[in-house]
Amino acid sequence: MKHLISVKELTKTKILEYIEKAEKFKNGNMFYEKCKNRILVNLFYEPSTRTSCSFQTAMIKLGGHVINVTDKFSSVEKGESLEDTIKTLNCYADAIVIRHPQKGSVQIASTVSSVPMINAGDGNGEHPTQALLDIFTIKTELMKFHVDIITENRENIVVTFMGDLKNSRTIHSLIHVLCLFSKITFVLIHPKGLELPDEYIKLLTERNNTFITDTDISFLEALKITDVLYVTRIQKERFQCEGEYNSMKQEQDQERYIIDANTIAFCKEKMIIMHPLPRLNEIHPEIDSDPRAVYFEQVKNGVYMRMSILEDMLS
Ligand code: NCD
Repeated sequence: MKHLISVKELTKTKILEYIEKAEKFKNGNMFYEKCKNRILVNLFYEPSTRTSCSFQTAMIKLGGHVINVTDKFSSVEKGESLEDTIKTLNCYADAIVIRHPQKGSVQIASTVSSVPMINAGDGNGEHPTQALLDIFTIKTELMKFHVDIITENRENIVVTFMGDLKNSRTIHSLIHVLCLFSKITFVLIHPKGLELPDEYIKLLTERNNTFITDTDISFLEALKITDVLYVTRIQKERFQCEGEYNSMKQEQDQERYIIDANTIAFCKEKMIIMHPLPRLNEIHPEIDSDPRAVYFEQVKNGVYMRMSILEDMLS
């Protein structure tokens, strides 16, 4: 049975297949019957707007149905175990999308499931479907500048990750995906204490990727060379105490790790600014109308990528 728990399970060929299918759905922008009479359960133990709504939209566009379950309004509130909840939902669902605050929990839950499960974020672990919609967006948007991320016959691409590199599961999954492509330089910009975890540094090193940290380059210098800027918020819910969060946030604000009219002036003409959203103050709304800002395009692409994934798993 197919689950989607980690991007580590995906080959480059599979990812390109998902992208190709998502492109077709995007260009057709139609309703289909590929998941007719199939039922998807969306099980969320953490808040979500985009991931939950885009799985719903994708399933509806494929002709299927969705049941939404949140921890606050289910027997989880009465103390039911994750395993029992999954075994129960197996009686209704053809597939389960799950978001949970504990890293590794989705993998454990999948061992008791008789239907495919999709990880929609496990704590500060992974978020594979976001990484897939992100690579779909990167490919599509760079193509507008005639840069093809898939081929090796091109100049080096600079991808800068900025923000909470320690806790951002979207960055963790995306790094794995990007490591399947060649000629990418990674730049890592973050407040102190929010470094990329060792396992990802190890991965970048093993794959011979060039990476530059903010001890080697200033934020503004990094902006000058960046082709893909991927910004994230500082993840308040992952900190032990409010004080720890406040000090990181203060450092981010002091260092001015913020994209606004002043800092965007340092960026190339041909580059893109991404964010998985929700944002706090790290990208000023005045940037939204700039053609380089593609974060709402990411939201749109999420539907087509999730259609591609659901069709593959369910039909
Ligand atoms: C992200 C997540 O939940 O990891 N959001 C999303 O799924 N689009 C990023 C975040 O919460 O900051």
